[in-house]
Amino acid sequence: MGYHFRYLLFLTILTDVSGEEPSMIRIPGKPGIFKTSESLETSWEECVVKCRADINCSVVYKTSDIQCQYFLFGSISTIQQAAPKGDEIALKIQLSGNQCPISNPLVPGHTYYTQIIKSQFYKTTLSQDSLSNNIYNLTYSVSTCPDNTKLFQRGETTVVCIGLYFFEDPRCNNAMEASALCKAQNGTLTGPANADEYEYIQEISYSSVDTSNPDSFQYLIYWINGAGTNTKNDYTFEDPTHNGSTNYKWIGGAPIAKRTGYCLNNPNPLSFYIADNSCTDTVLSPNAVCWRGALCQVPPKIEIV
Ligand SMILES: *[C@@H]1O[C@H](CO)[C@@H](O)[C@H](O)[C@H]1NC(C)=O
Ligand SMILES: *[C@@H]1O[C@H](CO)[C@@H](O)[C@H](O)[C@H]1NC(C)=O
Ligand SMILES: *[C@@H]1O[C@H](CO)[C@@H](O)[C@H](O)[C@H]1NC(C)=O
Ligand SMILES: *[C@@H]1O[C@H](CO)[C@@H](O)[C@H](O)[C@H]1NC(C)=O
Repeated sequence: MGYHFRYLLFLTILTDVSGEEPSMIRIPGKPGIFKTSESLETSWEECVVKCRADINCSVVYKTSDIQCQYFLFGSISTIQQAAPKGDEIALKIQLSGNQCPISNPLVPGHTYYTQIIKSQFYKTTLSQDSLSNNIYNLTYSVSTCPDNTKLFQRGETTVVCIGLYFFEDPRCNNAMEASALCKAQNGTLTGPANADEYEYIQEISYSSVDTSNPDSFQYLIYWINGAGTNTKNDYTFEDPTHNGSTNYKWIGGAPIAKRTGYCLNNPNPLSFYIADNSCTDTVLSPNAVCWRGALCQVPPKIEIV
């Protein structure tokens, strides 16, 4: 234990005010196993600052006062911690707040770094090797969403792919079939977890009237997550990651029925926003309204780099 504390005295951290910004953790150490690296002619300070600002940089190592070794995402898989005053290495991770943590940040806790670049989720995970306290392993993954879905982050390391899935035959169908549509994609019905998600959901729902409406209905409605229970205003949810109906924007006065047998849909059959309708609804008066499909969250494809 005492061994660790001595190391910590030599640990320095550069952070920004925002908790979302990456931090560079500087420790005595050197690269272990790596595939590729670049050599940069620059001061150590500048090298660390450059890495922090570069979305593709994961680790930098001080080779001399005027030179550093630069490791891109996925290129280095182990780091060897060294005795204080020896070699110096800096790695990018996420820390909340802008303070040097009082306990070792490299052991379980804040041991990852995540970012979304062009709708892909890049995750770096740092773990201590089980055989040696002085070796840290870096593993990398890239999560990509299926076509016609969009990636959203929910919580620190959870990502979901959100999209509309359409009924085929018949093209208008009930809430139970909507749930099955999502499950067929290894997903579940979902709902908005925040304002950004809700904006996206509204956008794809409205534009579908022009692109996914072969029967020329006036309105297309989508089942979302939430089935009424015997308790007023209480719903059961298949997807636990959007915090229930916290971010649901209800139509004025809704939910209306608030009981078993009523399911949530968006936009509701009368105008914008979310409402509850009978779970067995499929169409309203010929060509007026069609429950056209489901709003699903499906898992991304995760590639280990
Ligand atoms: C990061 O890497 C990607 C893929 O190699 C490249 O397209 C992009 O320009 C790089 N970004 C920066 C800031 O260097
Ligand atoms: C860390 O990496 C080494 C070398 O690749 C490997 O042998 C070891 O099992 C890894 N440890 C963990 C905890 O992943
Ligand atoms: C669903 O998961 C199963 C088992 O992991 C897999 O074989 C199947 O391809 C997945 N289906 C889809 C649509 O991703
Ligand atoms: C979930 O919603 C409740 C209010 O309904 C709120 O108090 C809580 O902070 C939310 N939790 C998260 C993780 O957003």
